[in-house]
Amino acid sequence: MNAAAEFRQVTQVFGDFTAVDGVDLAIPRGRLTTLLGPSGCGKTTSLRMLAGYTRPTSGSVLIDGVDATRLPPEKRDLGMVFQSYALFPHMTVADNVGYGLKLRGLKGADRAARVAESLELVGLGHLAKRKPKALSGGQQQRVALARAIAIRPKLLLLDEPLSNLDARLRVQMRSEIRRIQSETGLTVVLVTHDQDEALEMSDEMVLMRAGKIMQQGAPAEVFGSPANRFVADFLGYENFLQLSDGLISVRPEHVTISAGSIDAGGLSLPGVVADVAYRGVDLLISAVVHDDEGEQVLLSNTRSADAAPVAVGDAVTVSAPAARIVHLTA
Ligand SMILES: Nc1ncnc2c1ncn2[C@@H]1O[C@H](COP(=O)(O)OP(=O)(O)OP(=O)(O)O)[C@@H](O)[C@H]1O
Ligand SMILES: [Mg+2]
Repeated sequence: MNAAAEFRQVTQVFGDFTAVDGVDLAIPRGRLTTLLGPSGCGKTTSLRMLAGYTRPTSGSVLIDGVDATRLPPEKRDLGMVFQSYALFPHMTVADNVGYGLKLRGLKGADRAARVAESLELVGLGHLAKRKPKALSGGQQQRVALARAIAIRPKLLLLDEPLSNLDARLRVQMRSEIRRIQSETGLTVVLVTHDQDEALEMSDEMVLMRAGKIMQQGAPAEVFGSPANRFVADFLGYENFLQLSDGLISVRPEHVTISAGSIDAGGLSLPGVVADVAYRGVDLLISAVVHDDEGEQVLLSNTRSADAAPVAVGDAVTVSAPAARIVHLTA
């Protein structure tokens, strides 16, 4: 397999706490892979082991198929952007971007050309002479990206690079990073705890929990078939029901709540409407049903124009087509 980087049985123990627990992972070349998961699940620790800032307690890290476990960061040919961009405040934008090139002995016109090309890529060619403090947060973030890209790294590692930006800029930078990735063909590993960010940006997504990988795959694969309840929960699934054939989940947009009985060939349960909330584009209807564990509230969001009128207290049928029912393992 043509992986740009690999973890083989990588474990990281801090004192008596295992932060990363026997992880096997292959990072596909020329793609954008996200490490996704809740706070403390081991994302940053994994990235730091990939970068060489932390050595695994056991296991090995391969870069380009070669064992790099003991290589220091500066020998790994990586670009890294942290949550805080860590620009040098006394240097101009251009000198910040050229810093890594200078360290690598690139001089004169060659260095200037590479700096210009990198700044162009992030759309900041016109700000080359400014100091970081005269830039907005989003612009500083782009300078940090340009600096990491300038060295043409084997791997570009980004640790929550968008978390300091306001919501609008964050969404805009998602597609910027995607564009830069596809224009350069770089292998990118991006850490995030935001599932929307991961779904939108990833070619490959790796979902972690408590130091272990729960699921890895293309966003549509993971989203379409979450492996277990944790993954489903994390990706915003609702409507968990314990039925005789196991635990299932259906997204609210696939649930129909109607006065008559429907045979969709999938889920069909009697229920009572508990709440109807008007939300502009849709109605959020809650109905109480019973599963093997007792009373549950199921949610349905139906486009308001399509919804048959139901009211609190109505006896209804809660249904979902078989194709929309996700079966979960625990
Ligand atoms: N140097 C260290 N010494 C002791 N414990 C550490 C150290 N670094 C990380 N940890 C612990 O290891 C666990 C994983 O930390 P890590 O920073 O990898 O989490 P994360 O997934 O990046 O979380 P977040 O989303 O909050 O950034 C946490 O419980 C953290 O407290
Ligand atoms: Mg982190």
